[in-house]
Amino acid sequence: MQSIKVKSPATLSNICCGFDILGMALKEPFDIIELIQKEEPGIIIKHIDSFELPVDPEKNIAGVALQSMMHSLDNKQGFEIIIEKKIKPGSGIGSSAASAAGIVVAANELLGKPFNKKELLSFAMEGEVLASGSRHADNLAPCIYGGLVLIRDTPSLDIIPLNVPPLFITIIHPQIEIKTSYAREILPKEITLKNAVTQWANVAGLVSGFLKNDYQLIKRSLHDVVAEPVRSKLIPGFDEIKSKSMNAGALGGGISGSGPSLFMLSETESIAHSIEKTMKSVYDPIGIEYKTYVTTVQNKGVEIFN
Ligand code: HSE
Repeated sequence: MQSIKVKSPATLSNICCGFDILGMALKEPFDIIELIQKEEPGIIIKHIDSFELPVDPEKNIAGVALQSMMHSLDNKQGFEIIIEKKIKPGSGIGSSAASAAGIVVAANELLGKPFNKKELLSFAMEGEVLASGSRHADNLAPCIYGGLVLIRDTPSLDIIPLNVPPLFITIIHPQIEIKTSYAREILPKEITLKNAVTQWANVAGLVSGFLKNDYQLIKRSLHDVVAEPVRSKLIPGFDEIKSKSMNAGALGGGISGSGPSLFMLSETESIAHSIEKTMKSVYDPIGIEYKTYVTTVQNKGVEIFN
C-alpha cells in the first residue's frame, strides 16, 4: 500500500466530572488525513484548510506524532501528509488529538500494523504535549479506541473502553479562543475534601450510569465542582445556556474539554435539536459567532476512509 486516507473524529473530553480521565469520540465533525509514502526520507506536510497551522514537522502536531512513531521503529521512510482539518484548532473538541491520533493510526496501517492501540496512543501523546504542554489522554484515547473510554492511569496509559447507551450530543462552539495551557493554568492546585468527595462520587455515578444504561443516574452525575466553576467564567453565556438546556430536557452538560465549546447530552435526537435552538437563541444576541453540532457517539475511533 502506498497511501492511505483516514477520518479522525472530534472528541468530548472530561464529560463534566471526569477531568482528564473520561472522553468519548463523536461522529461529527472529523478531520481527513492522507498519508503518502515517498522515496526520499523526511516529512512534508500540506494543509488544505484555512487554519494556517505550521507545516514544519517539528512544530506540527501530526508531524511530531509521526516522528515519534518512526523513531521507535528506527525507520527512515519518508512521508507526505495532507491534512484537511474540519475541527477548528482551539475549539475544545479535540482538534489537536484528531491530528495526532489520525496520523499514527494511518501510518500504522501503511506499515503493516507494527503497533497496538496503546503504543499508538503513546506516540500520539507527543503531539498532544506539543499542543497543550501537558500529558492528558482524554481526547486521544477515545479518538484511537472509539466510543467512551476511561483513562484509569495516564502515565501507564491504563485505558478502559466502556459501553455507552444511545446518546445525542449538542455542541455549541463560540468562535473565541481559549488556550488549553491557559485553561489548565487557572485551575485550583488543591481542592477541598468535600469537593473531592463530590467529584469522585459523580465520576463513579456517571460511569455506573453509562454501564447500566441508567439515564437518570447519568443526569444526577453530570456535575463538575473542580474545573467548571473557574473555566465557565471564560465562556460568555455559559450559565444561561446550561440552565435553558436543562429546561429543554438535557441530561446535563458543561464545558467540552477546556472550552470554549459547550456540550449537552440528551436521550433523544429531538431533545438534542431543541437544545441546539436554545443555544442559538442565547448566542444570537451575544453577537459572538458560533457553530453548532448535533451528533452521536462514534464507536470506531480513527477510520480508514474509502
Ligand atoms: N482534560 C483536558 C482539560 C482536556 O480539561 O484540560 C483538554 O483538551
